[in-house]
Amino acid sequence: MGSIESRIETLKKKHNALILAHFYEDGDIQDIADHIGDSLFLAQQGQQSEAPVVLLAGVVFMAESVKILSPNKTVLAPDMNAGCSLVQHSPYEKYLEWRKQHPNGIAVTYINSSAEVKSISDVICTSSNAEKIIASIPEDRPILFGPDKNLGRYLAKKFGREMVLWQGACEVHVLFSARKLYELKLEHPDAPVIAHPECDEAVLQYADVIGSTSRLLQEVKDNPAKTFIVATEHGILHQMQKARPDATLIQAPAEGSCACNNCPYMKLNTLEKIEKALESLEPSVSVPDDIRAKAQVSLDRMMDITAGRPVTWPDRFEG
Ligand code: 13P
Ligand code: SF4
Repeated sequence: MGSIESRIETLKKKHNALILAHFYEDGDIQDIADHIGDSLFLAQQGQQSEAPVVLLAGVVFMAESVKILSPNKTVLAPDMNAGCSLVQHSPYEKYLEWRKQHPNGIAVTYINSSAEVKSISDVICTSSNAEKIIASIPEDRPILFGPDKNLGRYLAKKFGREMVLWQGACEVHVLFSARKLYELKLEHPDAPVIAHPECDEAVLQYADVIGSTSRLLQEVKDNPAKTFIVATEHGILHQMQKARPDATLIQAPAEGSCACNNCPYMKLNTLEKIEKALESLEPSVSVPDDIRAKAQVSLDRMMDITAGRPVTWPDRFEG
């Protein structure tokens, strides 16, 4: 029988499968993954890998992104209910209506979105390449940014550029309490506050570093501070603590009585579901061909800008 980890390893070899895990997964899942990373890194690894089967332990939009970029691969999502509040907050029909209201705008859509919404976007971004993407857009073109209003507002402020913002939010990151964070900072005046840009503006005002999950992990590796206040999902503390066993990591406090901010969708994945998915090669994500082809254009543009390759922009949205 062996341990579940060794059974997963055997199944992985049998199918020549690659296991990718997001930083927000539980530690036991991170520990069996071939690669752990932020959403950009996982999309890149999934696309570049030669493996015919990719299991993505994260949320479904991440698995969909790999499928869009590599349609011939079998892409497994251990639990198809692993959604994301940003996907829920951006239904296709409403997003399309919004796009049509600004036909000469360039629609920059966060990767936390459905394949359908990606298919009516000009370019995708993640929190690790968003600044590069915005910087690549001609100054004379209006920018529509969705679905995360907090990341959008952060970028608009940083670039001093007006943007039309879709009003979606991450249900996990908006729970951090600015008031409690302020009090915690007073208790630990030397601890840098590191925060994900999906947090509210009131929380971000106290942050010393704002960035993607990989950027925040890098800060913990590079900064000699002994204590860090971390305003993002709890799962990332696993890699942070491994990298800095000497450091004290305090997750920023949430509003109300909840002890730590966990993403309920990321946490649907378990080792048992991963084993089952590798046994049956189900559930696998599928994206209809017409949507996939259009969504790939916006993801390819993101990959090109990220790699420093030149891109062209459509003159207007033809919907
Ligand atoms: P990262 O791209 O920074 O990993 O963020 C993904 C996410 O869902 C944050 O809530
Ligand atoms: Fe979506 Fe928020 Fe969960 Fe990230 S943490 S997957 S943005 S609900």
